[in-house]
Amino acid sequence: MGELHHDEHLLEQARAEIWKSWRRTCAENADHPRAKELFNPDRLPAFHDPFAGGGSLPLEAQRLGLEAYASDLNPVAVLINKAMIEIPPRFAGRPPVNPEARREKTLIARQWRGAQGLA
Ligand SMILES: C[S@@+](CC[C@H](N)C(=O)[O-])C[C@H]1O[C@@H](n2cnc3c(N)ncnc32)[C@H](O)[C@@H]1O
Repeated sequence: MGELHHDEHLLEQARAEIWKSWRRTCAENADHPRAKELFNPDRLPAFHDPFAGGGSLPLEAQRLGLEAYASDLNPVAVLINKAMIEIPPRFAGRPPVNPEARREKTLIARQWRGAQGLA
């Protein structure tokens, strides 16, 4: 499971399947009265989990390239989702901000992928 989770090739294949499926959906709904607005083959629809709990579904949706939204009536779940899917993208590709890491020039100069720097 841990290895699949980080398999970038597999994620790329899944992203391509999502695009394929979305383009087919758009083609099938081309005569919908609001097709232009609702079925744009160049823009994936956003993902919303209204019962997000621990946030695994919006997190995976985000990793698959979808704009992800989460909500829940439990404020603890909301906090978890903020920490999992709202805050990390703001630091994507950025180096660590803590003073100790900032003093270490080699750490700042290297490439930081995704939320590695935040972690
Ligand atoms: C089974 S959990 C979701 C698990 C989640 N898919 C995951 O992978 O962690 C169901 C969630 O729905 C939330 N919930 C239940 N009733 C709700 C309601 N009426 N409105 C919003 N959230 C609700 C609960 O607080 C709980 O976090």
